[in-house]
Amino acid sequence: MRRTRIFGTGKAVPAKVVTNRDLEKFVDTSDPWITLRTGIKERRILEEGRTTSDLAAEAGRAALLAAGLPASSLDAIIVCTVTPDSPLPACAVHVQQKLGATCPAFDLAAACAGFIYGLSVADGLCRTGNFQRVLVIGVEVLSRAMIDWSDRNTCVLFGDGAGAVVVGPSPVDDERGILSTHLFADGTQAGALRVPAGGVALPTSPATVAERQHFVKMNGKGVFAHAVRNIARASLTAIEKNGFAPEDVTWVIAHQANLRILEAVAEKTRLPMAKFYLNIHKYGNTSSASIPIALDEAVRDGTVKPGDLLLMSALGAGFSWGSALVRW
Ligand code: UT7
Repeated sequence: MRRTRIFGTGKAVPAKVVTNRDLEKFVDTSDPWITLRTGIKERRILEEGRTTSDLAAEAGRAALLAAGLPASSLDAIIVCTVTPDSPLPACAVHVQQKLGATCPAFDLAAACAGFIYGLSVADGLCRTGNFQRVLVIGVEVLSRAMIDWSDRNTCVLFGDGAGAVVVGPSPVDDERGILSTHLFADGTQAGALRVPAGGVALPTSPATVAERQHFVKMNGKGVFAHAVRNIARASLTAIEKNGFAPEDVTWVIAHQANLRILEAVAEKTRLPMAKFYLNIHKYGNTSSASIPIALDEAVRDGTVKPGDLLLMSALGAGFSWGSALVRW
């Protein structure tokens, strides 16, 4: 059977670095607190004048270059984001235009689980036989769209960035490619991580702006507990459904939200921390971009090698979560 292969990866991160020490200057926090509680040392913030689609297109271009494919070869573009350039149209059409592609393009909103959802949808499209090349991009500019820079509970956690992969049916029957994806959601937990205003339930008004209802509100401890439990479960599901054991996994490319979450997942799953690829110290939580950025770095720095078994797993607002197992 022809699997869906990842033919190229790419990333784009803003040049502007904001360190924990920089945050100390305008919010009541400290570098030791952030480092100890999250593992984050710095994050990237998008420069004025650039938008989500600029970052997404840059990552997409890098992935196409790595795959050796022109944008004109794409059959679909999926942009996984909750921070599009504007509510309408989809961010993906701006990306399509910036890349010079002509294919269908749409957005997918599953917050921090966005990339896993996007990869799963792309895998499904390829398996229909009607799509040969699909570009999946995880991108967020939370700093400008959702972060309350006066709320120390959330503003220290997040960063901007984009990561991308080009996928398509493997040219030959082989072992390499996406072995399976597993998606989950639990809407009873929708209140744990949300932006209350700006939609149909609470349209934008002078009052919603004055009350700071357009910023992210989070029950940190609740999210933490669900993240550990569900990322661990989804990871084990992917491993077991394919007849593997945790020892068979070469690298875990998990959502980089909090180093302590990953340490707890490692303990629950018996996946050693040494197998977790980590870059949270450099970028913070970039939501749907975190897995494809980590994947791109792991591929380019030679960590990931052909034949490696990669486990991807993430949880985000919703809650939405999922996992994917890939033979590289
Ligand atoms: O992709 C999914 C997105 N979200 C997440 O993954 C977040 C999941 N949750 C977490 O990562 C953690 O819950 C946090 C990092 C957000 C918070 O860590 P925590 O260990 O749960 O801390 P806490 O909320 O219990 O706060 C402990 C103390 C509190 O002070 P008191 O009440 O003990 O006096 C907070 O007010 O730390 C205080 N605090 C801070 N202090 C310095 C909270 N934020 C900060 C801060 N700097 N930035």
